[in-house]
Amino acid sequence: MADTDIDIDTGKNNAKSKPYKRVMLKMSGEVLMGDKEFGLDSETVDRVALDIKEAIELGIEVCVVVGAGNIFRGVSGAADGMDRTTADYMGMLGIVMNALALQNALENMDVKTRVQSAIRMDSICEPYIRRKAMRHMKKGRVVIFAAGTGNPYFTTDTAAALRASEMNCDVIMKGTKVDGVYTADPKKDPNAERYERISYMEVLTKDLRVMDATAVSLARENNIPIVVFSVLEKGNFAQVAQSKGKYTVVTNNL
Ligand code: GTP
Repeated sequence: MADTDIDIDTGKNNAKSKPYKRVMLKMSGEVLMGDKEFGLDSETVDRVALDIKEAIELGIEVCVVVGAGNIFRGVSGAADGMDRTTADYMGMLGIVMNALALQNALENMDVKTRVQSAIRMDSICEPYIRRKAMRHMKKGRVVIFAAGTGNPYFTTDTAAALRASEMNCDVIMKGTKVDGVYTADPKKDPNAERYERISYMEVLTKDLRVMDATAVSLARENNIPIVVFSVLEKGNFAQVAQSKGKYTVVTNNL
């Protein structure tokens, strides 16, 4: 399939389309462990930080929600017999660790950041205050939203869709290990094709698991496109934020 140079807003093929103004980057915690089996890989964290820096230097306002799959997964904890709410809270603490690691990497590169947590831990980071987060972003700071929504039973995908809605983001960029949404698993099926654009409804009805259903519904209600792209390639985040390269757009504007 050809590379996409489609403007995410207009659907026009335009390699020079202007970048998004305000972006929510959703990244799985698993990406941050690189080739390791657990935890954080500092080289990968630095590379992701550099990708974010590139976007900031283009004048794009960036906020970030990370997952915690590299540290602890609430759902798996619950599957192992742990109380689900306790397991989810442990997952939220894992997110805070990832957020601090990303903040540290960004600040080492002279990128101004603020971490805001949905669960108060004031000695470690700011509490989530929407208007303050807005102000930080306008000043060019990267705001990293930690601890998910602060509630058990909600995923970090949902936290990303919620914060993106609250922060009036133009787009949710979902960084994954694949460069978009496919008709089948591209690792298993050589005939799998990448969607260039797909509707929220199709994602939901075909159960394509781009993000969980709550997150997709929230994005749909607030008309925020979800761009699924690969974060594994260096520099891809800033490219895709300018509608360049390969990705899939989940939108109502097909
Ligand atoms: P503006 O002055 O509005 O541009 O924002 P600012 O974040 O620089 O101002 P503020 O005085 O709120 O914060 C100064 C520093 O203290 C920043 O590094 C904040 O991240 C940090 N800070 C602010 N509130 C808290 C908090 O509740 N907990 C923690 N740990 N740090 C905080």
